[in-house]
Amino acid sequence: MPVVSVPQAFNEDDLYVDLRSIFGHPLFLKCEGFNFAGSIKLKAAAEMVEAAERDGVLTPASILVESSSGNLGVALAMIAASKGYRFLCVTDSRCNLSTRLLMEALGSRVHVITEPDAVTGFLGARIDYLRALCASDDRYVWLNQYTNPFNWKAHYRTTAPAIARQFPRLDVLFVGAGTTGTLMGCARYFRDWHRRVHIVAVDSVGSVIFGGAPGRRMIPGLGMSIRPPLLDESNVDEVVRVEEADTIRACHRLARRGFLFGGSTGTVVSGALSWLADHDARERTAVAIAPDLGERYLDTIYQTAWLHALYGEDVLGSGELTAGSRVA
Ligand SMILES: Cc1ncc(COP(=O)(O)O)c(C=O)c1O
Repeated sequence: MPVVSVPQAFNEDDLYVDLRSIFGHPLFLKCEGFNFAGSIKLKAAAEMVEAAERDGVLTPASILVESSSGNLGVALAMIAASKGYRFLCVTDSRCNLSTRLLMEALGSRVHVITEPDAVTGFLGARIDYLRALCASDDRYVWLNQYTNPFNWKAHYRTTAPAIARQFPRLDVLFVGAGTTGTLMGCARYFRDWHRRVHIVAVDSVGSVIFGGAPGRRMIPGLGMSIRPPLLDESNVDEVVRVEEADTIRACHRLARRGFLFGGSTGTVVSGALSWLADHDARERTAVAIAPDLGERYLDTIYQTAWLHALYGEDVLGSGELTAGSRVA
């Protein structure tokens, strides 16, 4: 019986969904949304805060600031509330409303950037804002998830060993890429493991993480408009890119079977399925990481009007919509 006195002390690290009966391919989905912050970003947030406390950078007088598309912001808001720090999250207009409200409910302030930088996009504009803020007052402490090594170390220490414990014969691991903290932590852990694991990074079309042209991306979490400083491509065996329309189809296929996951899970599952379809995967042990759950996306990915406005009326056939959408 887990009993906790601080919210960051609880995280379910051993829950998997076997997707074979839904998609016909052997794939285990590691669910990272079962903690009080609701996402995998709790691990990076906790590790970065603890490191900053150890180094004396973060003190009771500090004001934590961070750029986040939402989930890291929620995790930091939760930890800040638990530890008594003030926290300001800098996000942009793609951040889900419920995510923003969640941070505010936890006592944090949220600043929403509404205009992307012409070259570096929303992320560049968020970072510019943070730099100016930190230059204006030295009480601000920016953990900087994009460069902070404790972001990937959190996954080296927790996520990857948790997978290794449950799947001693793991062959392929699919990991979505944002800051690439999860990807780098897992890739570095399995590089030194007792058997070779094929590391497949999953990114969204329009993201420039692994090169390519920037394009419109409306689903927060995965993808970046700049190259992530944490990324070391020598640790990645392959990259699969997924169109947002395919992300949405995967989310709705899962939801039709009662599994409501977040957008990046749809991306990772869609990318993993196309990789498995292209390779003889019957005998392989394959795991994909699901970063969060679907409730934060009810007004976007799971709302028919939003889908039709952004991706067109036929993004989902009538048989592909979730049950509620079909009745409507
Ligand atoms: C929902 C979701 N998926 C995926 C990611 C990407 O994880 P990482 O930053 O470790 O690459 C994030 C990061 O914020 C996220 O919020």
